[in-house]
Amino acid sequence: MTTNIIPAPATLSSKHLLGIEGMSVMTMHQLLDRASYFADHLTQDVEQTLKGSTIVNLFFENSTRTRVSFEVAAKKLGASVLNISVAGSSVKKGETLIDTATTLNAMHPDILVVRHHAAGTPYLLSHHVDAAIINAGDGRREHPTQALLDALTIKRKFGHIEGLRIAICGDIANSRVARSNLYLLGGLGAEIRFVSPSTLLPPSIGDLGVGVYHDMREGIKDCDIVMMLRLQTERMEGRETPSQHEYFNLFGLDSEKLQDAAPNAMIMHPGPMNRGVEIDSLIADDHERSLIQKQVEMGVATRMACLEALYTPLAQAK
Ligand code: CP
Repeated sequence: MTTNIIPAPATLSSKHLLGIEGMSVMTMHQLLDRASYFADHLTQDVEQTLKGSTIVNLFFENSTRTRVSFEVAAKKLGASVLNISVAGSSVKKGETLIDTATTLNAMHPDILVVRHHAAGTPYLLSHHVDAAIINAGDGRREHPTQALLDALTIKRKFGHIEGLRIAICGDIANSRVARSNLYLLGGLGAEIRFVSPSTLLPPSIGDLGVGVYHDMREGIKDCDIVMMLRLQTERMEGRETPSQHEYFNLFGLDSEKLQDAAPNAMIMHPGPMNRGVEIDSLIADDHERSLIQKQVEMGVATRMACLEALYTPLAQAK
């Protein structure tokens, strides 16, 4: 007899979702199982578990995928959503970060989704507001919902994460995605490799317990997944790469280098991509090998699961 058991909303140990570091493996699985259920029902009506809630997107850095998918996810679950454009806000008149957050808090949102260029900002704000906080990317630190959507994409493609060999390639030093994915995919049993020039590795690389490669073909050898990262020039000092052309020759993914990965290796990229810098267009647009558009789709399902996990205890307390 087969049963269609709908996974319950995930239970988090904290009121906030600030990062993957420290998250239990059980919570990771709960979030992914619930997100996978939403992924199966993305074009259908689902229970309005966020009905009556107010979600505020507060982005101090540019975003397309994350901001829009949080809005779509919240609306699919019945929430009211407000998007604060920092460019059009009183931040431009000199209002501090904390004054901005406490001003929004006075309007009683349930969840603040925060992106900021400074690492630790969501954690800081969590001590100044009543709302639950979701980290939508803080500096070089973490991007937890990106890692969760990456894990969901992989799990739905391969059926498992444990035992996969995953190369994360490029600008590791400035990447919050690399850090969150190391905690999440590594925590779920994948072998993670970082492939990067030494100038684009963080000083703390030795503490992370990850295999490091400086040669692209050696680093991606026999890997099931090759995840490319953008050169995050907005966080660079300018001396990290000689030129984009030379960088592409050494660390850009093209068909020739990809031959060294596992025969059916899949390509991932969190976006936005810089075509011809870290990835060749032929690879990025290869529908047989590229999971890049699937990652965007899984972003909505993942953020539904995360918003719901934070709002369920708030709704019960209302
Ligand atoms: N991957 C990601 O965070 O993309 P956006 O900057 O477009 O949100």
